[in-house]
Amino acid sequence: MSDAGTGTRRSEIPFRNPGWAGNTGEFDLREEEVRGEDYVGAIPADGGHPGASPARPYMLPDKDPSAPLFEGLYEERAQKILGRYPESRAALIPLLNMAQELRGHVSDETMREVGERLGLSLAYVRGVVSFYTMYNKRPVGRFLIQVCTNISCNLCGGDEVLAAFLEQTGTELGETSQDGLFTVMEVECLAACGFATAVQINSRYFENVSVDGVPDILSRLRSEAA
Ligand code: FES
Repeated sequence: MSDAGTGTRRSEIPFRNPGWAGNTGEFDLREEEVRGEDYVGAIPADGGHPGASPARPYMLPDKDPSAPLFEGLYEERAQKILGRYPESRAALIPLLNMAQELRGHVSDETMREVGERLGLSLAYVRGVVSFYTMYNKRPVGRFLIQVCTNISCNLCGGDEVLAAFLEQTGTELGETSQDGLFTVMEVECLAACGFATAVQINSRYFENVSVDGVPDILSRLRSEAA
């Protein structure tokens, strides 16, 4: 079978895309060209444009669980967020995202504060936080390593990759390493099934990860932290 218009047989086309954010093999874009040089903490504290909102929870590299949530630039940002919606309840998810960005996780106290700001009960806020697995319910390390063990990744060794991350960080599932750098979690499909095993570390995807690749990834993260 030939490629339309080129006369090239498909089998002759070199495999060039092991994952556009992949960590192995060749691809045309460098990772920093896709993601920017800094993968965490790149959103300005005031949130930038009033319409700007991270689509998912996001974390600063240095998390401070007791940082004031509604003060200074973060208060400005809260007001921008609130100004976007006719009903304050609609601001719940962006405010929770902001809280996780700053504090690294969403504790009961954070849920209470956000609920008070929006006139929502703790039970309502907890219902939202517990629905989304992207909200960390307890503190996590500098690098949150989420290993997919769903069907495609499982067939490609996801369980073994997860075990390698746990062993080489010296942690149990969900625990943070003693140096505060790593928390390893098992997650459901990361929507990168074509590049199994997929691993998400903070906001960054690593694809086609094998057990052999784990030491390199960890040493790269350690040097980034240093
Ligand atoms: S099964 Fe792992 S990314 Fe979909």
